[in-house]
Amino acid sequence: MKFREMLASDMDQVLTIERNAYSHPWTEGSFRDSLAGNDEIWLLETEGAILGHGVISVAVGEAHLLNICVSVDSQRQGLGRLILHYLLTRSEGLGADIMFLEVRESNSSALALYHSEGYQQIGVRKNYYPLGREREHAVVMSRSIG
Ligand SMILES: CC(C)(COP(=O)(O)OP(=O)(O)OC[C@H]1O[C@@H](n2cnc3c(N)ncnc32)[C@H](O)[C@@H]1OP(=O)(O)O)[C@@H](O)C(=O)NCCC(=O)NCCS
Repeated sequence: MKFREMLASDMDQVLTIERNAYSHPWTEGSFRDSLAGNDEIWLLETEGAILGHGVISVAVGEAHLLNICVSVDSQRQGLGRLILHYLLTRSEGLGADIMFLEVRESNSSALALYHSEGYQQIGVRKNYYPLGREREHAVVMSRSIG
């Protein structure tokens, strides 16, 4: 397994993983904006097959985890934790001393992962995410780096 940055040619594979894993996946436009901007999109792959992806934005000492996703077939094998570690190390290398993220309050898998990795809740964004015809709160978390 290795990490590498996403290329435009990875789009179809990444979108398939994203759409199968999320109820509200990122659009192709979201990935294109991240590729064109200052975000970093990292892929975990093995023998040419992409297993998951993660997106960070790092500036002025702060890192933001914008997306982390593991292919449904590869979940619960430690890969989400591996990607999270990689993104934290990468953020540290880019000068960040704190990581922020947001997660749906119903996303118990991701919440368990973040808590186990030392992230703490620092706030709630009310009615932040779409949920059918309604909205769902976002839990805002952070952890220091280094
Ligand atoms: C959240 C996600 C990235 C976790 O990836 P993963 O590879 O399945 O997770 P790991 O195997 O590394 O597990 C790490 C920890 O996460 C938690 N976890 C993962 N899946 C879980 C589940 N189904 N139920 C409960 N806890 C879970 C556990 O604490 C687990 O540690 P453990 O195996 O020692 O109990 C993955 O479920 C995913 O891609 N979900 C869809 C996209 C998403 O919701 N991303 C997060 C957006 S904020």
